[in-house]
Amino acid sequence: MENFEQLKTVKFYSGDVTPLEMHKVRVVQKLNLLPIEDRRESIYGAGFNTFLLQNKDVYLDMLTDSGTNAMSDNQVAAMSVADDSYAGSSSYTKLENAISYVFNQKYYLPVHQGRAAEHIISKTFVTPGKVIPMNYHFTTTKAHIEMMGGIVEEIYTDEALKIKSDFPFKGNMDINKLNKIIAKWGAENVAYIRFEAGTNLIGGQPFSMANLREVSAIAKSHNILVLMDTSLINENLYFIKTKEEGYANKPIRDILHEMLSYTDFSYFSGRKVSCTRGGGICTNNHDIYMKMRDWVPLYEGFLTYGGMSVREIEAMAVGLHETLDFDVISHSPMFIKYLVDALDKKGIPVITPAGGLGCHLDAGSFISHVPQGQYPAGALAAALYVASGIRGMERGTISSVRDANGDDVLADVELLRLAFPRRVFTLSQIKYAEDRIQWLYDNRELIGGLEWIEEPPVLRFFVGKLKPIGDWVEKLVAKFREDFGESL
Ligand code: F0G
Repeated sequence: MENFEQLKTVKFYSGDVTPLEMHKVRVVQKLNLLPIEDRRESIYGAGFNTFLLQNKDVYLDMLTDSGTNAMSDNQVAAMSVADDSYAGSSSYTKLENAISYVFNQKYYLPVHQGRAAEHIISKTFVTPGKVIPMNYHFTTTKAHIEMMGGIVEEIYTDEALKIKSDFPFKGNMDINKLNKIIAKWGAENVAYIRFEAGTNLIGGQPFSMANLREVSAIAKSHNILVLMDTSLINENLYFIKTKEEGYANKPIRDILHEMLSYTDFSYFSGRKVSCTRGGGICTNNHDIYMKMRDWVPLYEGFLTYGGMSVREIEAMAVGLHETLDFDVISHSPMFIKYLVDALDKKGIPVITPAGGLGCHLDAGSFISHVPQGQYPAGALAAALYVASGIRGMERGTISSVRDANGDDVLADVELLRLAFPRRVFTLSQIKYAEDRIQWLYDNRELIGGLEWIEEPPVLRFFVGKLKPIGDWVEKLVAKFREDFGESL
């Protein structure tokens, strides 16, 4: 634990900028890389939806960083001393202590994952017509708020949706827009202001402490609560420490405590922040805690496990402590930056600056000949799987909804997200991704659009099925064989 607070960078004699793993691999899982013809079969079988691929058919699973992170040896060891009991488990006490030490929060409500926290928070604080301003929505967050009759108002800055930018804090809220929203709806109709760390859907982009401080002051002056989604707090901490003036020499724990001091309550998905499963709601406010407490036994499980196994609880306690280790929180952002910068240098459209969740290809310009109504982000996700065995996630119009007339609500941006599960991939695997994306870009005119064959009414991106428009997949496979011969 002694090197937790160091801010190190290793310089290479050659002058290369190479991210360096500050851990070694001690347990491995065998991967399959199927021949391209089999990958073509698999994507047809999955209805051109990468969520429906079988993991055994995937080489690099970059679908998400949720529940797919590598645990440390200390986390695995902690799992073997878990104290099995329904109530009063000593494993739970360890987790409460970790919440108190790491987050400086007195009260904790355990839940089985992040969206369960969103469920309980929305149920408690959102009533029909209430407004929830936020830097940007996340899919499950918005669905829970809207299910309770609430209204989501996104108040991102002009920088947020720019594909190319060097602004380090694209997750910031626009203060003018916030003031206008409060004036428009009336402070009494604002349920709370939600700040999402490492803003997921705009590319894992952080907000700055200065922005949070300002938003918090405005909220206080109107008596409005501030809620923070800390699911992606690790990387937001990394960016504040490395990019925001005045924080380079501050211990990570102090930065985190300062962040949470500007909030009234927070919640997290343990599938991301602590490299485990589970999640929780944290606060220092007893009233807020009491308002939500009794929903936990009803929806999640008793108050000392909340739907998590004691093994997960032990691993989470250790994982939260590891959040204070610079080597842990810097790993993903450094690897992501490596891929983003390499692709950007080649002129391949990618969101910049590199964020903390993954590399986001701008499918809208990558295959600008595919109209948005034919789902370019979904088509690119399928094409990349066929070309490489890499599974990414569509974050564009397929992840959106239809309006009252049944027309697609076109997404602000068409992105293919290549998530970086924490401590999972090696640099040579990332170089492979770079190589295949380059090939796909050079052959992008071959890629066509998609159309629905089975479209569920809610969260259609999870299990909906599509098919290619025309025979572009066959053309892509033929070109691959022409260029790569027998290669996998
Ligand atoms: N908040 C954020 C910012 C998230 O990214 C997620 C999940 C959740 C809440 C919900 O947490 O999955 O534990 O219920 N994001 C995953 C993803 C699903 O792939 O980005 P959960």
